[in-house]
Amino acid sequence: MTSPELTRDAAPAGAAAVIPAPATPYQGDIARYWDGEARPVNLRLGDVDGLYHHHYGVGAVDHAALGNGGNSGHSGDASDSAYEKRLIAELHRLESAQAELLLDHLGPVGRDATLVDAGCGRGGSMVMAHQRFGCTVEGVTLSSGQADFANRRARELGIDEHVRARVCNMLDMPFETGQAMGSWNNESSMYVDLHDLFAEHSRVLATGGRYVTITGCWNPRYGQPSKWVSQINAHFECNIHSRREYLRAMADNRLVPHAVIDLTPATLPYWELRATSSLVTGIEEAFINSYRDGSFQYLLIAADRV
Ligand SMILES: C[S@@+](CC[C@H](N)C(=O)[O-])C[C@H]1O[C@@H](n2cnc3c(N)ncnc32)[C@H](O)[C@@H]1O
Repeated sequence: MTSPELTRDAAPAGAAAVIPAPATPYQGDIARYWDGEARPVNLRLGDVDGLYHHHYGVGAVDHAALGNGGNSGHSGDASDSAYEKRLIAELHRLESAQAELLLDHLGPVGRDATLVDAGCGRGGSMVMAHQRFGCTVEGVTLSSGQADFANRRARELGIDEHVRARVCNMLDMPFETGQAMGSWNNESSMYVDLHDLFAEHSRVLATGGRYVTITGCWNPRYGQPSKWVSQINAHFECNIHSRREYLRAMADNRLVPHAVIDLTPATLPYWELRATSSLVTGIEEAFINSYRDGSFQYLLIAADRV
């Protein structure tokens, strides 16, 4: 473990007084990316109920809730603001369903347990984990803007004694060896080397603890990353790994898969609906095409720390 350079005092009351600088220039770029990120597709969805996510959705679209009569071929009129509001609520329901699915795979979690959200974003999954299990949830992100946002939401909800985000590198987390009963990456593992990441999860997890990731990964059956996958990498400044790399890096780090679920068919409805909205970011086509041509997969892997 490196000793990160200590920089400025940006921590909320009760947290450590100093935060580590990004360990690499790339991490500096990612911190800036997320500090500056304020896309309506994230913020307007979060405004629906105060759970702010930076991930995608799973499950069938409820066309009755959208008010288009269950006709999946008819996407409604995005210029109609009442319809747009219902569409945003529906996309948000699907992204919260994704987080619920991740939490389902942590197994039983007691109130005394500590969970770690690696790459926690604005903290939506952390809040949901605390509300479900009553336990402590520690999050880490490279972005001080995101950590401040997550800590502010926890204070507003009166759960800041149990839910806390910190600015730090998930490859070098400020947690003791074996401290966590569960840990996860929700769409945050494509920013790091997987061997380094799983070595660190394996260190902070207690033996018998559970690790869960939901991630996009390229499909080794396709051969190499497709042009769509390359486009997604460029869009998010990330490096999508293959399914094979996930399983190999887990096996090398005492993380034994308990469930491997291909969520690709479950996430396509989210993308197809999102592509009809006014919140499009331009990357929808790459996701839809790569999921359809089989070069990209949306995967959940739950693993036991043995
Ligand atoms: C796509 S967002 C996902 C956020 C959150 N997991 C969610 O589901 O809403 C990716 C997150 O990974 C974080 N991240 C990327 N590299 C990181 C690193 N090396 N250490 C800590 N966080 C990192 C970013 O700061 C950002 O919060």
